[in-house]
Amino acid sequence: MEITARPEVISLAGGLPDTTTFPPESFAAQMTRIAQESSAEALQYGPTEGFERTKDVICEVMGVEGMRPDRDDVIVTTGGQQALDLIAKTLLDPGDVVIAEGPTYPGAVPVFCSYQADTRQVPIDEHGMRIDVLEETLDSLAAEGTAPKFVYSVPTFQNPGGATMSLERRRALVELARERELLIVEDNPYGLLRYEGEALPALYELDGGDYVLYAGTFSKILSPGIRVGWLCAPPPVMEKVVLGKQAADLCTSTLTQYFVGEFFGEERWMDYVDDVVAIYRGRRDAMLDALERFFPAEARWSRPEGGLFVWVTLPDYINTTDLLAKALRENVAFVPGEAAFTDGRGSHSMRLNFSAQSEDEIREGVRRIGRVIADQLDLYRTITGEHRMVEPGAAAAEEPSADVLPLRRRPRGERD
Ligand SMILES: Cc1ncc(COP(=O)(O)O)c(C=O)c1O
Repeated sequence: MEITARPEVISLAGGLPDTTTFPPESFAAQMTRIAQESSAEALQYGPTEGFERTKDVICEVMGVEGMRPDRDDVIVTTGGQQALDLIAKTLLDPGDVVIAEGPTYPGAVPVFCSYQADTRQVPIDEHGMRIDVLEETLDSLAAEGTAPKFVYSVPTFQNPGGATMSLERRRALVELARERELLIVEDNPYGLLRYEGEALPALYELDGGDYVLYAGTFSKILSPGIRVGWLCAPPPVMEKVVLGKQAADLCTSTLTQYFVGEFFGEERWMDYVDDVVAIYRGRRDAMLDALERFFPAEARWSRPEGGLFVWVTLPDYINTTDLLAKALRENVAFVPGEAAFTDGRGSHSMRLNFSAQSEDEIREGVRRIGRVIADQLDLYRTITGEHRMVEPGAAAAEEPSADVLPLRRRPRGERD
């Protein structure tokens, strides 16, 4: 976040939605209405479980994705991040095994680590988590006389991998959970940000909420600044989660829950989601084009149908944590792949975000990273005397071409 705040840096690092897309006049009108009509209530504490009005909105949003949660199974949390923290707090003792995808959401890594979980990571491919490898992992854990407390998955437009779990694997995972009485934690911040293809049912819908706990958030469809997310869990888990939340922060901000109520009270909320989807689709395409153009032929990357990220894998002699230091000198940032693993893997991968920058900035950012990679490749070849195995298909080492616009320096705080 510190890097992102430096105006000269093109940050492809954070998972920031573009909040400049939210009309300031709507924000002003909604907050004014709250101040005029519900000032005392909005400035007060609220129930730990969240307001009924917020839960109605949550049920409506989940309904758009085909889910029908029971309102009593929903708790409002301080962002989706707190939902993950509360699950871990409720279910984990030190040394308990958690299974996550490899790579997994970088923000989940400190959660599992801080509760001293033994996190095992099951690889993903373009169809999401490898359920065959998951079964093998469960078998070998059973042979050791243990079982995971839960399996954590971001099945739709995975952060950071960009992959979406296929319907076949979703069904297999839910079936496996039933057979083995295994809890699944489905984390779904991006489901409504689809740029192409057909929507798939959530694990929560397929399972009916028996073995699948569900974490959601308003961060990517409204605003991360409001810090409102939620968790759906069956009553025995929910009881403990509520105690955990009381200990953590008593309740989620009343003021921002009122804002959620106002925003979703307007029929047009889905229009706003459609607007950001159109903008992010253009940015995703700009990033995929730029990768084709500026990254070397040895690089591989995901082609996400939605969400906010592309996952890039480079030759294994390039360490992306080292590369980041060099990229920062060129005023461009990304997330090194190691952040998405608990065991040091991912060192030649990187996560690139395409929602937070304009299409021109994305092209320029990718071009700069492409140059830094090209320098590393040249250095490697000079040291090892190896010739190029694959000719670069991209123009990584070329001078900027005509359609790369020189960007003016932005004064602090100003957005294009
Ligand atoms: C997969 C995933 N889960 C949870 C979160 C947490 O989001 P928030 O706490 O803003 O709701 C994020 C944010 O980027 C995410 O990508």
